[in-house]
Amino acid sequence: MALRKIVLQGDDCLKKVCRSVTDFNARLHTLLDDMTETLIDSGGVGLAAPQVGVLRRLCVVMNEDDEIIELINPEIIATEGEQTGLEGCLSVPGKYGMVTRPYVVRVRAQDRNGDFFEVEDEGLTARCFCHEIEHLDGHLFVEHTDHLLTEEELEEYIRQQEEEDEE
Ligand code: NI
Repeated sequence: MALRKIVLQGDDCLKKVCRSVTDFNARLHTLLDDMTETLIDSGGVGLAAPQVGVLRRLCVVMNEDDEIIELINPEIIATEGEQTGLEGCLSVPGKYGMVTRPYVVRVRAQDRNGDFFEVEDEGLTARCFCHEIEHLDGHLFVEHTDHLLTEEELEEYIRQQEEEDEE
């Protein structure tokens, strides 16, 4: 396994509509393993292939049990509710904004062997499914917010979250 370089906002790779994965081969498995290693190394919760310069429809997401979910050719097939919360992106380092997403998201995808499966999650992981799958169509979270938080606003937000967690 190897770490891949994460491309940053402004790079053309992040604006392209990615092509479907058709070959479920060793090369794909290496890419998925590298993306997982890169995600864990970066401390993020999701990473899409275009973020490492590969214009194919796949991403990896870490759920709240720290399990890695590999999503190949993913499609959102159902959503429920709504949540508004802080969102960031490894390709937009140091910037965060409030983004509204569905609260529950169900995804149909293929695994690394090409077998179809469905996965459903809520909260942060649901937010992550939406964020990563959008990357595959060339979109970034900043398109969903007209205001990126200042450092003071970010600190205030984190302080509030910590207070809520203590209650
Ligand atoms: Ni992102």
